[in-house]
Amino acid sequence: MAEWIDIAGERECPPGTSIERVAANEMVALANVDGQLYAIDGLCPHQGGPLGTGALCGKVLTCPWHGWQFDVTTGQHQYSANVRQQTYDVKVENGRVFVRKGNTDVVIPRGELA
Ligand code: FES
Repeated sequence: MAEWIDIAGERECPPGTSIERVAANEMVALANVDGQLYAIDGLCPHQGGPLGTGALCGKVLTCPWHGWQFDVTTGQHQYSANVRQQTYDVKVENGRVFVRKGNTDVVIPRGELA
């Protein structure tokens, strides 16, 4: 996913919320932290929970299934230094939100940690 992909209208994700979207067959969690949009891999690496439908508190997004928490600005798991979600670059043009894969270099394969 090297190109920018339109995933949502800017107003669909107001400050303090997160939403789930699909970009090039990949689940993306889009989160709005005080007006700044961030996007990370939307599939929780624990058991595949839908991160985008979780609760956002500040910059921490909590998986709705078992409570794993991630910093949406970095993709970093809050308790394990070895777990980090893929991040996406985000831009807004004409009221639309676009994402493309960021430069996260550490991604733990799903199912490796239970
Ligand atoms: S699937 Fe996300 S915490 Fe278990």
